Amino acid sequence: MNLNNCYNFEDFKRLAKKKLPSPIFHYIDGGADDETTLRRNTESFNDCDLVPNILASVGKPDLSTILFGKKIKIPVFLAPAAMQRLYHPEGDKATARAAEKFGTFYSMSTMANNTIEEISEISSGPKLFQLYVHKDKSITDDLIDRCKVANFDGMCLTVDTVVAGNREKDHRTGFTTPPKLTLQSLMNFAMRPEWVLNYLTHKKFELANVSKKTDKGTNISKSVIEYINEQYDPAMNWEDAEYCVKKWNGPFALKGVMSVEDAKRAIDIGCTAIMISNHGGRQLDGSRSPFDQVKAISDAVGDKLEIILDGGVRRGTHVLKALAAGAKACSFGRMFLFALGAGGQQGVERVLQNMHDEINRNMILMGCKSIKELNRSKIIFRK
Ligand code: FNR
Ligand code: LAC
Repeated sequence: MNLNNCYNFEDFKRLAKKKLPSPIFHYIDGGADDETTLRRNTESFNDCDLVPNILASVGKPDLSTILFGKKIKIPVFLAPAAMQRLYHPEGDKATARAAEKFGTFYSMSTMANNTIEEISEISSGPKLFQLYVHKDKSITDDLIDRCKVANFDGMCLTVDTVVAGNREKDHRTGFTTPPKLTLQSLMNFAMRPEWVLNYLTHKKFELANVSKKTDKGTNISKSVIEYINEQYDPAMNWEDAEYCVKKWNGPFALKGVMSVEDAKRAIDIGCTAIMISNHGGRQLDGSRSPFDQVKAISDAVGDKLEIILDGGVRRGTHVLKALAAGAKACSFGRMFLFALGAGGQQGVERVLQNMHDEINRNMILMGCKSIKELNRSKIIFRK
C-alpha cells in the first residue's frame, strides 16, 4: 500500500497506522470519553440530502471564496494541529507548502514544532495562526506581535480547550510531548524503526513557539493532557478574548463556538469569523456536531460573520452540504494529519487534490457554477 492507492480518509488512515508508532497514531485518531461526538461529527452529514439541478450548463465551476480577507481557490483549508514534526520530519513546513500549492490556508498551532518565522520564510500562501491562552499572559502578547511581523493573515483563538478532554487512548499509550522512550512505550516505537531513525536524525523536537517561555513539553516530557491543564488558563473569559481581538486588530475567529448566543457575542467583541467546532470530538463528548449547528448559527449571524465548519469533514460532499446549510468554508484536521503521516507534503497534496476534485465534480453534478449557488434550495434535511 502506498500514497497512489489512497483515495479516501480510511486509506490515508490505514497507511498512517503502518508508518507511525502507535502512541502517535492514537493521539491523532482519538477523541474524548466514548468518542460519541467524534463519530457524530461525520455521521451528521448523512441526515440531509443534496438536491441537484439538471442541465445547468456549469462547465467549469468557480470554487474560490474570500476568507480572512484572502481569496482562496477552494472552500476548505487545513485546521491548526499540534506537533506535526511527530507525523513527518518536515512537520508544519510540509503542510504549509502543500496548502500554498492549492491556494488555501495553512494554520499554525501554538503547539507547533516550527516557529512562526520559519514558516513565514518558506510560505507566502494564506496563513492563519491559532492561539492558546497560557496562564503566562506574556506568551499571548509575544505570539501576536510575532505573527504581525511575520505577515500572518488571520488569527483564531481556541475557546473549547480550557481544560483537556478525557482522551483515554492517550492514557493507555502513555503518549507524551516530547515522546518518552519508557519501557512501556519502547516496544511501540521499536516496531516503527524508520520513524525512530527520522526522529533521531532530524531537528530536535520542541514546542518551538513557546520553548523560550517554558521548558514543559520541550525538555520536560508531559502528556498533552497534563500540558493543557498546567499551562492553559482555565479561567479564560470574554475579556481575555476581546483583548486578543483588539491586539491583533485584523481578521479574527473564535474557534470552538457551538451556540447561537456565543456566535452573537463574538460579533460584539469584534470577531470577523467563527469556527463552529467541538475540537474534532476531542474535548466535550456528547457535544452537538458542528454540522447540526450550522443552520441555526448562520440564520442568526451569517451576514455578519464568516462561518467556518470545522470537524467531521471527510468528503467533498460534506463541504457542499456545509456550504448549502450556511457555512462559508470548512476546515479539517485528521484527514490531512493522517496523510502527512502517510507521505509528508506529497500526502497532504494528495488529500487536497482529492478534496478539490470531489468538490469540483460534485458542484458540476449539483448544477452549481459558483459556491454562492450552494444555498438552502440545494439541501433537504430529513427531520
Ligand atoms: C487538533 N486540533 C487542534 N486545535 C487547535 O485549536 N489547536 C491545536 O493545537 C490542535 N491540535 C490538534 C491535534 C490533533 C492531532 C488533532 C486531530 C486535532 C483540532 C483541529 O484544529 C480541528 O478542530 C479538528 O481536527 C477537526 O476535526 P477533524 O477534521 O479532525 O474531524
Ligand atoms: C489537541 C490539542 C493540543 O487537540 O489541541 O490535542
